[in-house]
Amino acid sequence: MGEKTVIEVEDLTKHYGEITALGGVSFSVLEGEIFGLLGPNGAGKTTLMEIMCGLRRFDRGKVAILGFDLVKEPYKVRSSIGFCPQETLLYDLLSVYENFAFSASLYSLSSKKFKERVEFSSKFLGIGEFMRRRVKELSGGMKRRANLAASIIHDPSIVILDEPTVGFDPNVKREFWELIRDLKGYGKTMLISTHDMYEADELCDRVAIMDKGKIVALDKPHVLKETIGGQASIHIRVKDTSSEKALTILESYHCIVKENEIRIFSKDPWEIMPEVSKKLISHKILTEKIEVVEPTLEDVFVKLTGRKLMEE
Ligand SMILES: Nc1ncnc2c1ncn2[C@@H]1O[C@H](COP(=O)(O)OP(=O)(O)OP(=O)(O)O)[C@@H](O)[C@H]1O
Ligand SMILES: [Mg+2]
Repeated sequence: MGEKTVIEVEDLTKHYGEITALGGVSFSVLEGEIFGLLGPNGAGKTTLMEIMCGLRRFDRGKVAILGFDLVKEPYKVRSSIGFCPQETLLYDLLSVYENFAFSASLYSLSSKKFKERVEFSSKFLGIGEFMRRRVKELSGGMKRRANLAASIIHDPSIVILDEPTVGFDPNVKREFWELIRDLKGYGKTMLISTHDMYEADELCDRVAIMDKGKIVALDKPHVLKETIGGQASIHIRVKDTSSEKALTILESYHCIVKENEIRIFSKDPWEIMPEVSKKLISHKILTEKIEVVEPTLEDVFVKLTGRKLMEE
């Protein structure tokens, strides 16, 4: 990752009538970063991304991409960005190749450059095998892959992806994460929105947590978890009804108990884990589970907003 700032958003504000979709959002992204916007439905992620790509108007603030001001040099901004929206933009009745040709025509790509980009998509984005198939015959995962390839056909240095893996099963999700990491490997800067805390945690170098049109926290995932998420703790589930007995054995620790679940809070749970297990074993307490649980980005969100990230 370089130290060059390639995306700069300052005090961006947007209302839809009475609704404040963005209430003064500021952040910057460094070259080569995977930067995540993590937030629940309605947080303002799509609004923010579409404004950055010149697709929506805004009330106040400033967006600069590679130093180009969005309002003053919209064409330069647009050609520097590849935007992959939540819904695929491909024509169902055309083949993937034909869709690529259409997208390329929007950017007036030379035929030489187009050939190079098709080759890149075949080789590195794993599209070769379905390049000549019609979009309507593709699986959901293939379609999303082709959509991404079409949105970066002009080889932009910044790629913006709106909830790229929503609705995917875990395996397809992982494949797509690999693809995103590969693009980072080719030097692209990536801005990704998600409401999946694991995705933000696994994939992103830095994460801005959004809620109700504001960024409520921004940092590397591990820093957010350590500073806001709270302490790691030991979770124990005892078999049957032995939690009373277990509790007396573990009385020297700071415990809380709920039915047959015990939690132990300690500055360094990893350190005391062996002696906790030993004590339980020596008193023949049977456990169904004993593990150290680290805070997640969900805990961070709950601490900041009092609500859960994903509705249940
Ligand atoms: N075209 C529109 N007209 C009126 N209100 C809108 C419009 N688009 C979005 N909104 C409102 O703005 C707010 C932010 O919406 P936005 O789509 O940006 O959120 P999001 O974070 O992308 O949500 P999701 O995770 O559901 O995609 C919401 O309250 C939404 O109802
Ligand atoms: Mg959205």
